Amino acid sequence: MKDLNQNKIPRHIALIMDGNGRWAKQRGEHRLFGHTKGVDAVREVLKAAKSFGVEFLTLYAFSTENWNRPQEEVDGLMNLLVDSITNELPELQLQGVRLVVIGDLKGLPGNCQQSLLNGMESTKNNKEITLVLALNYSAKWEITECVREISLKVAKKELLANDITPELISAHLTTREIPDPELLIRTSGEHRISNFLLWQLAYAEFYFTDIHWPDFGKEELKAAILSYQSRERRFGMVSEQLSE
Ligand code: FPP
Repeated sequence: MKDLNQNKIPRHIALIMDGNGRWAKQRGEHRLFGHTKGVDAVREVLKAAKSFGVEFLTLYAFSTENWNRPQEEVDGLMNLLVDSITNELPELQLQGVRLVVIGDLKGLPGNCQQSLLNGMESTKNNKEITLVLALNYSAKWEITECVREISLKVAKKELLANDITPELISAHLTTREIPDPELLIRTSGEHRISNFLLWQLAYAEFYFTDIHWPDFGKEELKAAILSYQSRERRFGMVSEQLSE
């Protein structure tokens, strides 16, 4: 595999970690076994992203639609999340990882909220890489909340309708302090966006791989970044303008 061009590393990579269930099924195991292995992949990919110089890594860990899964799986995922945050916290500190959560935190179980708040508070000054966990998140939820908030400000005359610009909308999203991702990766062969970062991905490059999430690691991340680096990002312009 070629070396990465250090001058073209995406600042922010968003990841839809798909295929834990299928990975487990192929091995005759329970779906939760796949999710547990998925946490190992998170650990490896976070380390690799940091070593490549990526500044923000956003993981779609639990969508607002995931509540519709069997209760046993939902409970298992919530427990896994609490255990992972608790167990990984010393390593996150050591690696200089800042933890940020986007999504409707209030809708998560109390112990989950507590461990996330604790994780965010204790890592808030870390500077090596920001790990953004999208939990109880969906882009339609986020955009709805944003519209509601802006409408209230207009109703209270704190804002005029004419003040509403793309920048103002970005400043009212849960990602307001995070740059938009340049690269979206989805594993496990599905070619869908699944209600993830609809606004923020407007100009992202998409990379799909058939590999299931538990098998995704440093080499696979490098392959995705190499693919990103081979693309021409035109932002609505024509090729010739980019070389001017
Ligand atoms: C998708 O696979 C995966 C999820 C919905 C959950 C992802 C969660 C983790 C990897 C653990 C989260 C933990 C941390 C610390 C971030 P799927 O179940 O949809 O797989 P399938 O499509 O094969 O059924």
